[in-house]
Amino acid sequence: MMVETQYSAGAFIFVGSGASRKYLILKRKGKGYDLPKGHIEKGESSGVAAIREIMEETSLRVTLVPYFSSTAKYFYFENKKRVLKFVKYFLAESKSAGAKISEEHAGFKWVSEQEFKKLLGYEDMLPLCDAAFSYARKLDEIKSINSEYSALPEKSQGWELSSRFVPGEGPLNAKLMIIGQAPGRVEDAKLKPFVGRSGKLLEAVLRRNKFRRDRIYIMSAVQFFPPENRMPTDQEVELCRPFLYRQLELVDPRYVILLGNLANQVLLGDGAVETNHGKITEKGGRTYLTTFHPAAALRFRDKFPIMVDDVSKVAKLMKASPRPSPRQWRNKAITHNRKGAKK
Ligand code: URA
Repeated sequence: MMVETQYSAGAFIFVGSGASRKYLILKRKGKGYDLPKGHIEKGESSGVAAIREIMEETSLRVTLVPYFSSTAKYFYFENKKRVLKFVKYFLAESKSAGAKISEEHAGFKWVSEQEFKKLLGYEDMLPLCDAAFSYARKLDEIKSINSEYSALPEKSQGWELSSRFVPGEGPLNAKLMIIGQAPGRVEDAKLKPFVGRSGKLLEAVLRRNKFRRDRIYIMSAVQFFPPENRMPTDQEVELCRPFLYRQLELVDPRYVILLGNLANQVLLGDGAVETNHGKITEKGGRTYLTTFHPAAALRFRDKFPIMVDDVSKVAKLMKASPRPSPRQWRNKAITHNRKGAKK
């Protein structure tokens, strides 16, 4: 039988945070409950399609949570044709609970995580629900860690680092984390890690190993710019250390790349990158790779190919557990028998 493939986008929409966070679920006319979703139009990105569908189906103006998406794959029948459907779900925040639903819906509810899973009824959607709900809880936690961390300058006597906090950046469920030393002047101005010359060099190392920056959580061991780009003092490192550990535990990456002596010292108690670079260390259920800081490779260009080679070790380990290909999904996808699988 011919199988047609279709692509849709939708979202887990929430209001509020913490214990009072609620998710929107729609009741389709004559059918079951579902998330807002619909076809991706020609030339449209999945994110734009999700926002458009949300607007059309609920009138809500939402903000997509950066970095999160999870894709459902299933079969359904449409005019006696078997359709393989891919639906990319985002996580979207709404400031208002006042949804105005479209014609095709009979009602809507803002519900808790548990109720959402009960109402939705598609077995294969449960892991996606869990992924979205857990990501939203991680958002709360990172906000709380970072708000405490960013208050260090006003709480610490004799603070000499910049008072501008440069938090980590990337998916809160990243499989790979990269930890540098401390933000530079450009990072201090833009409040983002690795966006200056070191960042460009790091991106080149990542590209050579076919890594995408937006799939990696990137941060510095000390998240405030040290004046004159000096090495943070032991006391400054100690003040920042508990926050670094909390961030690491929250993201919980399987692999960590340590850039330079300071990150290597703080995470592994191991200093000399000059001799340790390329070393793989298993610790606490994670695999660490030690390599040079990009600033070193900016100064000594022969370190660039060495960094590329060091990082390739992690790339090889990660490729040993690849994501399933679309062909594998085709064999694994289940058929949605419920009438609700309309789009
Ligand atoms: N070096 C770091 O360690 N972190 C940055 O954000 C930039 C340069």
